Amino acid sequence: MTYLLALDQGTSSSRSIVFHADGHIVSQSQLELPQIFPQPGWVEHDPAEIWRTQLATARAALAQAQLQAKDIRAIGITNQRETTVVWNRATGQPIHHAIVWQDRRAEPTCVQLRADGLADTIQRKTGLLVDAYFSGTKLKWLLDNVPNARAQAERGELAFGTIDSWLMWQLTEGRVHATDVSNASRTMLFNVHSNQWDAELLAMLDIPPSLMPAVKPSSAIYGEISPALLGHAIPIGGAAGDQQSALFGQACFKAGMAKNTYGTGCFMLMHTGGTFQTSHNGLLTTSAAQPSAQPEFAIEGSVFVGGAVVQWLRDGLHAIPNSGEVQNLAQSVPDSGGVMFVPAFTGLGAPYWKPEARGSITGLSRGTTLAHIARAALESIAYQSAALLLAMGRDAVQAGGTPVAELRVDGGACVNDLLMQFQADLLGIPVIRPAVTETTALGAAYLAGLAVGVYRNTEELSALWRAERRFLPTLGTQRAAELMARWEHAVRQTVLE
Ligand code: G3P
Repeated sequence: MTYLLALDQGTSSSRSIVFHADGHIVSQSQLELPQIFPQPGWVEHDPAEIWRTQLATARAALAQAQLQAKDIRAIGITNQRETTVVWNRATGQPIHHAIVWQDRRAEPTCVQLRADGLADTIQRKTGLLVDAYFSGTKLKWLLDNVPNARAQAERGELAFGTIDSWLMWQLTEGRVHATDVSNASRTMLFNVHSNQWDAELLAMLDIPPSLMPAVKPSSAIYGEISPALLGHAIPIGGAAGDQQSALFGQACFKAGMAKNTYGTGCFMLMHTGGTFQTSHNGLLTTSAAQPSAQPEFAIEGSVFVGGAVVQWLRDGLHAIPNSGEVQNLAQSVPDSGGVMFVPAFTGLGAPYWKPEARGSITGLSRGTTLAHIARAALESIAYQSAALLLAMGRDAVQAGGTPVAELRVDGGACVNDLLMQFQADLLGIPVIRPAVTETTALGAAYLAGLAVGVYRNTEELSALWRAERRFLPTLGTQRAAELMARWEHAVRQTVLE
């Protein structure tokens, strides 16, 4: 029996999953991660808690599987992306909490970069739009605001990392300071064409190059974990940002293959092969998980509030006792009765990029019930994802390619059949749910397995991918277009002119 261990360090929890080499889950363990909100718009994590919870879940997953560390062929790491940690190389102590991807404190630096006319250079080199979402400006904030940080950085005493790097440092007790290309591509400091840190971008943000981790392909031997941690040394064979890892775990290896992850937010990625495709429709270009030194790319759209809208119904409105109840309530009515819910709680992300937008519920009548609102909330997840796919389609056609032919889905909310059917209806293409929906962790396990020879190539991984259910569109294209037009109208109403 061959086993792989995936460490999946997400925004709200740390998880560890033991996979059998055929891709099925043997055991899993999860611990919540406390969120720290020091002031409005700021979000932090305690790096020590990230490590403590991650290690605890790894131990628990092994114990639950009744396996020992020596039974694991390799470890793969996948992580919340962009979240920024800086630590002291000598002591291993972070100089500050991690600044989480959702944190907006670096916005003034972004305003300055845009005013200085640097947006085009940044997009050309990194594929990214200038935004406080990415690590670079968060790192600059730390160097500028933590007492002594800049002087220490200039003396080469500090290390920067995204969460993959932080975990690798801990796992190897400071022997490895590295990251993979897909995580590096989210920093706004990385040239995705040459797969190297970009001297001009580092200088632009005043970041000493000595801070930066070594960059490797997503499938590579990064080092071995210290034997004391789990009882035996295990090679770290893979690392990738969680969304690129999910694309890999969905076996989307070829241009035109796409996946959507329905989590707190929704992240849709389409592989574009070896082609760096610039979006003209509000999407990002990003490095895909790369099994070799060959650059590979994806186009990405991120929706900030996806499944979180259901949490709001539960915790904000106290309208449902638990998240699972939303499907029953939504299903109790044939449609939303004309209600449109745009959950722009924190502005709108791709493809609109309207930070000033705020949520709205429109189309209310005397006949509107909570069930209609629940249905509209669920449908908003599909509408936002459909807007991403339409933008991707426009990009593909403008680049001389063809739009996505089917969408593979994963993440917590993909178990909701009503949502998946509505998604297929709006998109007019099949929506396919795989047998293993833990594709983020699976991608990391596959990357690690490739590095140690458990798999020979990605064709072998494609052969392991299985559909559990295909949702086929049942609405006519005319009706779907009408619904999308109503959605776009509702979106326009969320932005005050
Ligand atoms: O870009 C942010 C993304 O990587 C976060 O993913 O699943 O931790 O919310 P998640």
